Amino acid sequence: MCGIFGLISKKNVLKSCINGLKLLEYRGYDSFGIAGLTKDNMFLYKKPGKISLLEENLKNIKVHLSLAIGHTRWATHGKPTKLNAHPHMDHKSSIALVHNGIIENFDEIKKMLISKNIHFQTDTDTEVIVQLITYYYKNDLIKATKKALNKLIGSYAIALIHKDYPNQIIASSKESPLAIAIDEKKDEMLISSDPNAFLGKDLNITFLSNNEIALITNKKINIYSNTLNLLNKKYERFNSKKISANKNGYEHYMLKEIYEQPITIQKAYFGRILDFNKKVEFEDFNLSKNYLQNLNHIFILACGTSYHAALYAKYLIEDLAKTHVFAEIASEMRMKELLITNKDLAIAISQSGETADTLLATKLIKNYDSNILAIINKTNSTLSREATSYIFVKAGPEFSVCSTKAFTSQITVMYLFAIYLASIKKIDKLNTSLLLKELKKIPSKIKKVLKLAPQIKILAKKYSKYEKFFFLGRNYMYVAALEAALKLKEISYINANAYPAGELKHGPLALACEDHPVIAFLSNEKTYDKMLSNLMEIKARNAPILAIASKKSKAIEDIADDVIYLPKTIDELSILPSSVASQLLAYYIAKERKTDIDQPRNLAKSVTVE
Ligand code: AGP
Repeated sequence: MCGIFGLISKKNVLKSCINGLKLLEYRGYDSFGIAGLTKDNMFLYKKPGKISLLEENLKNIKVHLSLAIGHTRWATHGKPTKLNAHPHMDHKSSIALVHNGIIENFDEIKKMLISKNIHFQTDTDTEVIVQLITYYYKNDLIKATKKALNKLIGSYAIALIHKDYPNQIIASSKESPLAIAIDEKKDEMLISSDPNAFLGKDLNITFLSNNEIALITNKKINIYSNTLNLLNKKYERFNSKKISANKNGYEHYMLKEIYEQPITIQKAYFGRILDFNKKVEFEDFNLSKNYLQNLNHIFILACGTSYHAALYAKYLIEDLAKTHVFAEIASEMRMKELLITNKDLAIAISQSGETADTLLATKLIKNYDSNILAIINKTNSTLSREATSYIFVKAGPEFSVCSTKAFTSQITVMYLFAIYLASIKKIDKLNTSLLLKELKKIPSKIKKVLKLAPQIKILAKKYSKYEKFFFLGRNYMYVAALEAALKLKEISYINANAYPAGELKHGPLALACEDHPVIAFLSNEKTYDKMLSNLMEIKARNAPILAIASKKSKAIEDIADDVIYLPKTIDELSILPSSVASQLLAYYIAKERKTDIDQPRNLAKSVTVE
């Protein structure tokens, strides 16, 4: 949930450190800080708010840093104040440390250190780490750091510098990702919670495994095991020179990423539909056909928007492949008895591949010998390393906290997987060719939806004044309603709730009234008529109705106050145009309400704490 960045270079590293932190700010933006070493002392600058505050003030900061570590924070322990911002110093002001993760036994360690007359300045768990290192430090910094880290219970990715070691950064991690990179051309050494911070560079990169510790200087990087034996780590090429991290003229990353969807949906299926729409294959896929043919159940686990992709996949796999699927919210799955065996398949869906709830549920499942298939948008992620096999959704870096293109790419990949599984199981009546031809028409249909933006913008102005919404749908359209409600909720702060339309009369209908509009999804042929009768119930309670449909009828024109007509496609794919339309609606309503669309309050892009 926070971002750590650091680098050592021959040139002044302050600006590079700011740029690295800006690329991590989507992970948390309550406060930021940078610590570095000049030739004779420690530099420390930290504040609540966003890194742009430092960038604006840079001209007044005359300092040359040979190395620096930085942090963007999503507050877990302690309010987002200057005091609680990272980096944290020890009581001797000799060490500066940044941390991502949660230390569960920090209170007990803090009490021990206070009993040794060590004075604490903050109420963060992170300060305990830096004070404990200093407490153990005699004259070997690596040993003192390792001894302190071995006392911690919980998760951490840390980086630290010491005023008496002007040319080194120490880094370590446990259950929290930390990438180490070498830029040979620029003769720089870098660390980051997330390779996103290296965008635009061509590097050799490796990841610390649990309990490993790195000693980084401008000459070399030594990585040691938990017992401080020197390791020979494998580095891989990470060339992101062609990937841009800017908004390309869009006002927000979210809008840019919405408009990328005709291309990203195509990328999700490109090269995976073979033999003239007769076959689906996935590259580097190592689950055997025999294993998949004889599956008992599938458990799909995820969080947030990715959970909505999981629920969609449940409906579709059961429809097409006739395999029983459980769609599980990962944080809930961890709290119950898992009836999973090695005859079952677990599928973990995660854009970031770093969501703690999903990772922890995945770790739990590994105890049941079940294979794990990861559906991810980042190949260099913890989840991709934990899984038996993975399918890359290829949506490209998604910076807006609000997931859009990653979701539609997840839907596309799960659609392909359902067809793949059904064809392996030789399900008769499976019309693979029709299903795949329809998928290939989707990018042009999404372009048509994007052309509706002016109409959607007008509707957003009208509906932005309401403080609560129902989102309704049935079957695949219920999933569309869930996802649309989450979009609106998280970027406009409106109380938006989704229900299966048939559920309304069992309670929620009590809320229907003129200041509680309903947004209804009717782009499924199978549920169209039922939805119309549900809307009649709503209309009778004077609630405003905005229908999102692909079929015109006198009934819908009479019942709905407004209708957004989408290009028609098969029921199994109608969630894609419906989602893009509701993404635009949420975006323009949030714009009307002047919220921070790319970095909404209280949220972060990658929830790496449970
Ligand atoms: C989506 O708009 C949200 N930002 C959030 O629900 C997100 O989908 C969830 O945190 C899961 O993230 P992941 O896909 O990276 O695991």
